[in-house]
Amino acid sequence: ACSASNGASLSQGQRTPAAGAVRPTGDAASLKEAVGAPGIGDPDFPADGNGGYDVSHYSLKLSYTPANKHLAGVAAISATALHDLVRFNLDLSGLHVDGVLIDGEPAEFQRSGSELVVKPPRRIGKGEKFTTRVTYSGTPKPVRDSSNLGIYGFVPTSDGAFVVCEPNGAKTWFPSNDHPSDKATFDFELTVPEGLTALANGELVGGPVTAEGKTTFLWRERHPMVTYLATMTLGEFATRTGTTDRGLPNFAATAPRFDGQLDRVFRLSGEITDYWSTIFGPYPFSSTGGVIDDFHTGYALENQTKPMYGGFIPDESIIAHELAHQWFGNSVSIKRWKDLWLNEGFATYAEWLWSEHRGLLTAEQIFTGRLSMVDSPVWSYPPGRAKPDDLFHESVYNRGAMALHALRQRIGDAAFFTLLRTWVRDHAYGHATTDDFVALAERLSGKNLDRLFDTWLFKQGRPRWPERGDAAR
Ligand code: ARG
Ligand code: ZN
Repeated sequence: ACSASNGASLSQGQRTPAAGAVRPTGDAASLKEAVGAPGIGDPDFPADGNGGYDVSHYSLKLSYTPANKHLAGVAAISATALHDLVRFNLDLSGLHVDGVLIDGEPAEFQRSGSELVVKPPRRIGKGEKFTTRVTYSGTPKPVRDSSNLGIYGFVPTSDGAFVVCEPNGAKTWFPSNDHPSDKATFDFELTVPEGLTALANGELVGGPVTAEGKTTFLWRERHPMVTYLATMTLGEFATRTGTTDRGLPNFAATAPRFDGQLDRVFRLSGEITDYWSTIFGPYPFSSTGGVIDDFHTGYALENQTKPMYGGFIPDESIIAHELAHQWFGNSVSIKRWKDLWLNEGFATYAEWLWSEHRGLLTAEQIFTGRLSMVDSPVWSYPPGRAKPDDLFHESVYNRGAMALHALRQRIGDAAFFTLLRTWVRDHAYGHATTDDFVALAERLSGKNLDRLFDTWLFKQGRPRWPERGDAAR
């Protein structure tokens, strides 16, 4: 839920009489207006997400059986119509839809690629809240991307599943508005064979309860979350629950091969979360933690409240990175994928801050070292516009972080850290763009920073640095 125009005064089935806004049903223009677009409007990912409504809550009641890789359950999706709707889409790839109900009444539906097209039994009026209940089942197929994304989405493992969905893999396991510009709260009711553990975002609010060889876990994420951060990772896990030194609930889990890491992941996740809250401002969610699963993806994902590490022992640097994402990416989220440096550049800069905090290389030393790499591929990839065919290019990470360090040099430590804290406070639980960041940096520093951002974010080539007469040092 983000941009819902609040039409709370419209009751069910009532049409808005606003002149020009909605023409009588049957009129071709009106029908077109009343169809939710198949994409939410991200020019780089035109099919991702959907138009016409804004989701406020997902309630996912799912059971999974690793032996036959069968997922079955019900997704209840609460949303508000952004305009009249006679038809709208959800994103869902693979799986079999058994039925769709809207506010309890059967709705017609069709599948078309990764789109689930739903025809409500009656026209939904602009501003109306409605709940879509999709009953579905089947074997989830993860996304296998031949370019730089690897395998993601619902990834079956030998003992369960590793569920890491950035950028658009939520649709591999639940019908959704699968784009970061629509956030919602989540409830998970996950049932798995007895002996296995099912993990999701937020806190355990019920269970585990075992009956007839199956165990059910209830998890709740009470803060808005983008779809790519939702998880239902499951398998054999050792778990540890407690709090950080500052009193925040903390949760760690490790697959058997990483048993020896449970206490370390618990301790470091707590320590780093507490440290970031002194630097970036209050932790935005109700718990923190970390999970190591035994499936090698080669990357980690900052799943909200529970970063997940794909089959490797995370060093402090990557734990610091994934936990910094809780502020940068998870609380303050992007509206369009091309702004991805707002997530990855910031989380990478956090790695540099952590290194300095630990008495290892300083941020300045790391910056200088990277600047001296004349042949680095980052100089030909401006990080301020992440490319859809190479979204997670190292420039988005490292040159994005360099942009922040150049900014810090230019405006000084006091303004820079005030900027980071103001950024996460002003946009907490919401969305922001690169333009918003530039505007805030200029406002707080009182400086014109166009050239600096242009040089670091938008231009090809290795910057001459410090710029003559420009750098503050
Ligand atoms: N956001 C993750 C990180 O920086 C990377 C996710 C990459 N996604 C993928 N499908 N390879 O740690
Ligand atoms: Zn990252």
